[in-house]
Amino acid sequence: MSTRPSLEACIFDLDGVLVDTAKYHFLAWRRLANELGFDFDEEANEKLKGVGRMESLEIILSWGGIALTEEQKQSWAERKNGWYLELVEGMDPSEILEGVMDFLEDLKKNGIRIGIASSSKNAATILEKIGLSGHFETLVDGNGLARTKPDPLIFLTCAQALGVDPGHAVVFEDAQSGIDAALAGGFWAVGVGKPEVLSDARLVIPGFKGWTWAKMESALLNPS
Ligand code: BG6
Ligand code: MG
Repeated sequence: MSTRPSLEACIFDLDGVLVDTAKYHFLAWRRLANELGFDFDEEANEKLKGVGRMESLEIILSWGGIALTEEQKQSWAERKNGWYLELVEGMDPSEILEGVMDFLEDLKKNGIRIGIASSSKNAATILEKIGLSGHFETLVDGNGLARTKPDPLIFLTCAQALGVDPGHAVVFEDAQSGIDAALAGGFWAVGVGKPEVLSDARLVIPGFKGWTWAKMESALLNPS
């Protein structure tokens, strides 16, 4: 009898995996830092990817050595979100990253369950703008989640909703925090982006262009 593990589900991060909203989060956070009198670069921004809104704010304030009251923090977080929403206002389906639609179609054809696990409280808004609402069996977002990435809770919640054990599910992530969360939860982790940033992932791909489920399954189960 074969002991080959079966992969039954794919769980996708949203920002930076299905659509390039990661650049808009970066622009809005950078504007906040600039208004507070300091700056940070794309390398530092890697530490913010995947992390929830208030947790991201805490990290940025620590970089600037700035102490704020809870009320001030709420107010700055709301300003950042306002800038972010202005940046994503005009988004449409053309911004879905290359290869994503074909890959999703192929997963459906192969009977693979699909879900989204995004730390963003704006995930449903973005999915609506890019025409992907209703494409996924389940969406777990940053609303009402006790802990965001790197905690595995978001992926475990998504896997439970899909009725699949973590050992049979693949997580696609562009963030270090997301890869850490996936591995902590016992998932198969695929990095979408640069290998040097996502070095702990089992496999790193630059994007979904050219990937079928058969190719992905083979790359994961028979690594060279
Ligand atoms: C994650 C992004 O998906 O969501 C982070 O990678 C972002 O950059 C986080 O800060 C929270 O998003 P939001 O939309 O709730 O502020
Ligand atoms: Mg992301």
